[in-house]
Amino acid sequence: MKFKHVLVCMARKPNPMMPSCGGKGSDQIAMKFQEELMKRGLNNVLLSVTGCLGACELGPVVVVYPDGVWYGNVKPEDVEEIVEKHIVGGTPVERLKISHPIEQMA
Ligand code: FES
Repeated sequence: MKFKHVLVCMARKPNPMMPSCGGKGSDQIAMKFQEELMKRGLNNVLLSVTGCLGACELGPVVVVYPDGVWYGNVKPEDVEEIVEKHIVGGTPVERLKISHPIEQMA
């Protein structure tokens, strides 16, 4: 299995009325990724938490590189499936995939 980099947006907006991944519990998603990666001994996967990735309305947002696959509305219970199917199996989880808003404007 080749190297993967998983980014989990943890940003919180100063205004709690504005959508943000951190405001929707992305800390639980990052913790679940950490747990799943450790459980499987996947030491060729780098997990990073990030600031805003610009897709706040679609959050919590997770991105997997080098595949460039964006996931939205991710819940902690989706993490095991992302790890199993995408990180280990190489097949993205279609039902969670999103297009970045910038991509939609192009
Ligand atoms: S707060 Fe996560 S994409 Fe903006």
